[in-house]
Amino acid sequence: MKIITIIGARPQFVKAATVSRAILEHNKANPLNSIEELIVHTGQHYDANMSDVFFTEMEIPKPAYTLGVGGGGHGAMTGRQLEKIEEVLLKEKPDYVLVYGDTNSTLAGALAAAKLHIPVVHVEAGLRSFNMKMPEEINRILTDQISDVLFCPTETAINNLKNEGFESKTCQIFNVGDVMYDAAMYYSPKSKKPNSVNVDNNFALVTIHRADNTDNVERLTNIVKALNEIHLQTPVVCPIHPRTRKMMAELSIVPNFEMIEPVGYFEMIWLLKNCALVITDSGGLQKEAYFFKKPCITMRDQTEWVELIEAGVNQLVGASQSLIVEKSVEVKKLIRDNSSFNKEIYGTGNAANNIIELLVDLK
Ligand code: UD1
Repeated sequence: MKIITIIGARPQFVKAATVSRAILEHNKANPLNSIEELIVHTGQHYDANMSDVFFTEMEIPKPAYTLGVGGGGHGAMTGRQLEKIEEVLLKEKPDYVLVYGDTNSTLAGALAAAKLHIPVVHVEAGLRSFNMKMPEEINRILTDQISDVLFCPTETAINNLKNEGFESKTCQIFNVGDVMYDAAMYYSPKSKKPNSVNVDNNFALVTIHRADNTDNVERLTNIVKALNEIHLQTPVVCPIHPRTRKMMAELSIVPNFEMIEPVGYFEMIWLLKNCALVITDSGGLQKEAYFFKKPCITMRDQTEWVELIEAGVNQLVGASQSLIVEKSVEVKKLIRDNSSFNKEIYGTGNAANNIIELLVDLK
């Protein structure tokens, strides 16, 4: 079986690392029925600390193709990726194209494959924020529509697909658990403190990168004001996305806390293990907070990870300065209540193996 894996953005490196490892394990155990995986890196994320560090640390196989398509508008990026991925697929003729999550690279990969009638496998299918203004929502809805095998991380994702009528389609749908949980469990022993961090515990781990927040002056200003206030009580540690740094500089928004360069996965795990709470607009970090039993405040108006809201470990605060400050004080108390973090919402850490076993059976 030949699989082409399309990845391009930071969270996809983390997810793909687990599946590539499961493929290697499968090949060791089944030399006569092995899987050939070729990785295509679209180039959406290209800085060393947004891309290379993940390949090195997580031992992701070197990409067979690096397309170098990063930056530019959404249409231009997706279009250029589509064109280049099609060339690779025509040449390699894989049995499956594997795509992850909801980025422009996901949609470009799925679309290129579907138009060539190559079966599309979508890992992290069925998630919805129900906010069509988010580029990610458009990417994930369209990708699900043209996927042949949909690997969902949660029951909520399965139900979302049912509600959209997927049961009457010919595609195959499975709840396999969340590959990010696999990654968190497997790499946890390798966590390491970033050199750029001067605190050892009791800090707020903050990330901001959603277009909705970074490209809106009012929202970004409110968020930074709130974090400035929080920093007076609880040190803020903020690995900053290149776009957020750029926008803050352009708008002369000045934080009183230190923004550090983006960190690798092992450093992020250290930050998660040692922080008091997480404040973020990332999708992945909301779950990672849960994996490491830390309360989370989400600076968005919706989340795809509604189970965390229901469990009471995550609160949606939008970009309201007062809510961000108020809730950050409130949720810190949750850290003493481990029982809130014990449900197996995201599977058992075996999602990548489930995916490979199912793909082998389907073939
Ligand atoms: C993308 C995904 C988002 C995901 C995020 C993870 C889409 C629509 N969005 O958002 O779902 O949560 O990745 O980080 O695909 N840049 C650099 N260096 C880099 C990477 C980006 O300078 O290594 C700059 C780009 O040139 C661009 C900006 O940052 O100006 C945004 O990058 P882009 O890939 O468009 O989207 P993200 O915000 O990273």
